[in-house]
Amino acid sequence: MTARIIDGRIVAGTVRAAVAARVAALGFQPGLAVVLVGEDPASAVYVRNKDRAAAAAGIAAQTVRLPADVGEAALLAEVARLNADPSVDGILVQLPLPSGIDPQRVVAAIDPGKDVDGFHPLNVGALAAGQPGLVPCTPLGVMRLLEAVGVRIAGARAVVLGRSAIVGRPMAALLLAADATVTVAHSRTRDLPAECRRAEILVAAVGRPELVRGDWIAPGAVVIDVGINRGADKRLVGDVAFAEAAAVAGAITPVPGGVGPMTIACLLENTVTAAVRRRR
Ligand code: GUN
Repeated sequence: MTARIIDGRIVAGTVRAAVAARVAALGFQPGLAVVLVGEDPASAVYVRNKDRAAAAAGIAAQTVRLPADVGEAALLAEVARLNADPSVDGILVQLPLPSGIDPQRVVAAIDPGKDVDGFHPLNVGALAAGQPGLVPCTPLGVMRLLEAVGVRIAGARAVVLGRSAIVGRPMAALLLAADATVTVAHSRTRDLPAECRRAEILVAAVGRPELVRGDWIAPGAVVIDVGINRGADKRLVGDVAFAEAAAVAGAITPVPGGVGPMTIACLLENTVTAAVRRRR
């Protein structure tokens, strides 16, 4: 079997077009504020891409740039200012933050109704309890990809590889909310290949280049690769050995061009969701 390749750029384009259509019908312009502390080059690229995508969808995006030595108190004051600004519907503080600033304290200071990353403890709790809230963008993007493939999630055996707060845990909660039977596997799991082989839907989010081999995958499974790693030869590779996996899977996301483009698309979706809820 050769797997169907799930093109995240195409699905992300569909999500972004739907967001732009929602924005056009709103009668007001939603606002997104992205806070960038310091000059980390990778973060600067992310932030620029977020700005551009927001503008293209009709969202008023602003980037708040603060020096690396800003200090936690000044950053918290900036978050408070954005919380109080009625033109700002979504706030995202780009991570990682410089050492000396506690990211948990900063995230907890964001108005949960403006927390378009879905990282605030109230939103984390809402997702865990199966209640409405704002959901982290990358796992939400994975759900959109699964919807686009048309895979039946209800009743399916889903395995999430990785238990991070940003991807693995919210991913498991979203799949459970969609009625999958969910296993979370991780670095201490006794027999990772065997657990993965049980999956009809496998989501890999461990940050280990090409950890998942072809013989870890059940024939016909849907494989979503969240990993973005630099291989030994500087090439971008996922957490899944793509060529081996594609020979076995029913459908698979490539790296790059799979989950990556979905994160920003879902950030825009969350911004519109937050804007609509705030005005209700
Ligand atoms: N840094 C890398 N990815 C993300 C993300 O999704 N949100 C934030 N806030 N920072 C990040």
